[in-house]
Amino acid sequence: MVSERVQSQVFGEVATEYDDVRPGYPVEIADRVLAYAGSRPRSIVEVGAGTGKGTEVLRTLDAPIVCVEPDAAMAGVLRRRFAEDQLVDIAVSRFEDWTPPVTGVDLLASAQAWHWVGHRTRTQLAADALAPGGVLALFAHDFGFADGDTATAMQNVYLKYAPEIAHGVPSNLHPDVFHPDELRTSPLFTDFEQQEVIRVVPFPTPRYLRLLSTFSNHRMLPDQRRTRLHQAIAELIDGRGGVLHQQLTTGLILARRAA
Ligand SMILES: C[S@@+](CC[C@H](N)C(=O)[O-])C[C@H]1O[C@@H](n2cnc3c(N)ncnc32)[C@H](O)[C@@H]1O
Repeated sequence: MVSERVQSQVFGEVATEYDDVRPGYPVEIADRVLAYAGSRPRSIVEVGAGTGKGTEVLRTLDAPIVCVEPDAAMAGVLRRRFAEDQLVDIAVSRFEDWTPPVTGVDLLASAQAWHWVGHRTRTQLAADALAPGGVLALFAHDFGFADGDTATAMQNVYLKYAPEIAHGVPSNLHPDVFHPDELRTSPLFTDFEQQEVIRVVPFPTPRYLRLLSTFSNHRMLPDQRRTRLHQAIAELIDGRGGVLHQQLTTGLILARRAA
């Protein structure tokens, strides 16, 4: 029997590539979390840590961190990256199946992964994992385009070759990734804040195609269609000088567990 691929589980197919090509997070994210929390957390849990890109930033807070990551291949890269680090512990598990410490943790963070946790339960699970007054910090990149004309041309390529993933080009991941209203309106959380850090990162054509090959919506396309889409994207970028200027807006959502 051939098992069906599930979109939330395709990252491990390209774990090493993911780690190589996905942009990390600006260290300001940790600075902003610290400023919001008001004091250094004594304990951190990171949901969907992947290969450790968010973990690197969270480690600057200098607290013990438990990385909850269900994919064995992603967790393997993560384990190698922090092999010498006594403060990093890894639980190979979905967040839904993981048992938090009874005392709760000071900081629960998730980088580009919160949308993969079951939407019916994630807000309650986050509150259950946090100590009273503890902070929830969700962050993720919105992969936009620095140039509006390129954004429009890119949208047309998607509409032609893969219309089902054309929505959100230039991408606007924030609502999809964060579901901010879930937290803003939840009685379990208070002091809701949304912030952004914006930067432009150049991607030469081959590297941009490698980046796209780590996105779950691209991975779910049938091989032939993904190849045609990527050929068209390559032609577009090459026709504009061979470098795509990706505007990375790193969104950060902060909320505090109500007492
Ligand atoms: C886009 S990757 C983000 C990885 C890393 N945090 C980063 O920013 O690069 C999403 C990660 O969420 C993990 N994931 C998927 N479902 C999950 C769940 N239910 N609980 C925890 N993590 C999950 C995936 O295995 C994957 O490693």
